[in-house]
Amino acid sequence: MRLQDKVAIITGAASGMGKAEAIRFAKEGAKVVVADLNLEGAEAVVQEIKNDGGQALAVKVNVTLETDLENMVKTAVDTFGPIDIVVNNAGIFDKYTNSLETTEEQWDLIFDINIKAIFKLTNLVLPAMIERGKGTIVNIASIAGLVAQMGGAAYTASKHAVVGYTKHIAAVYSSKGIKINAIAPGTIRTPLTEEMLKTRPTNKIPLDRFGNDYEVAELAVFLASDDSQFMSGAIVPIDGGYTIV
Ligand SMILES: NC(=O)c1ccc[n+]([C@@H]2O[C@H](COP(=O)([O-])OP(=O)(O)OC[C@H]3O[C@@H](n4cnc5c(N)ncnc54)[C@H](O)[C@@H]3O)[C@@H](O)[C@H]2O)c1
Repeated sequence: MRLQDKVAIITGAASGMGKAEAIRFAKEGAKVVVADLNLEGAEAVVQEIKNDGGQALAVKVNVTLETDLENMVKTAVDTFGPIDIVVNNAGIFDKYTNSLETTEEQWDLIFDINIKAIFKLTNLVLPAMIERGKGTIVNIASIAGLVAQMGGAAYTASKHAVVGYTKHIAAVYSSKGIKINAIAPGTIRTPLTEEMLKTRPTNKIPLDRFGNDYEVAELAVFLASDDSQFMSGAIVPIDGGYTIV
């Protein structure tokens, strides 16, 4: 097992890719903190993991609230021990809202969840990781963090910020044992995209299909495990080839 006894926090883990990551991480032996605004959903994921013989704990967290993040980290450490892995997965979409139609309120909410929360949680876990000389962070960015037109103004800008922040942390803290990388998924079938994908063609994707949550989870395991020891600051697209054409 590739994550045996590693303590992992996954945000937004009640649904979609976060859920798939939580289940996959537990199968690889990790002790998983399933953190989400939706406690009921998080508890259902924990039950699924436990039914399969894994270890997990549900924590209700609003990633925009510093006190929630602090409580989540404390609960994780008290229950499972020092944190080895954080997957910053929680995120919301702006439904392709262009700049002129984006309100300041919408902009702030997208930024608070998609990037400010990553900055806050990273700063909460980094000191202990640096002290232990090891720690792994996987940020879920998007191909909207690499190219335009895969989101609206706020989403595109927030995911470009995730890419930049990931590189910053890698540049400054890799020498202290911190390994941080980002995944840039293309269009993946999850509850977030379910409705949208009913009418969306796949012909602009070289592989001619959308992605699945378990395919992203597999990449997250690789980036969280020692198999990716020489990777830091990488932004890895998983998009069926969308960004190469
Ligand atoms: N689905 C895609 O095609 C796609 C593509 C690229 C990137 N992404 C990114 O992947 C991540 C997961 O997306 P998904 O498609 O699985 O979405 P999803 O909507 O299925 O799941 C997101 C989860 O985040 C939780 N969440 C939302 N706001 C929160 C908050 N303030 N605090 C705590 N939890 C909160 C939700 O409750 C939900 O369980 C997001 O960052 C998204 O931007 C998705």
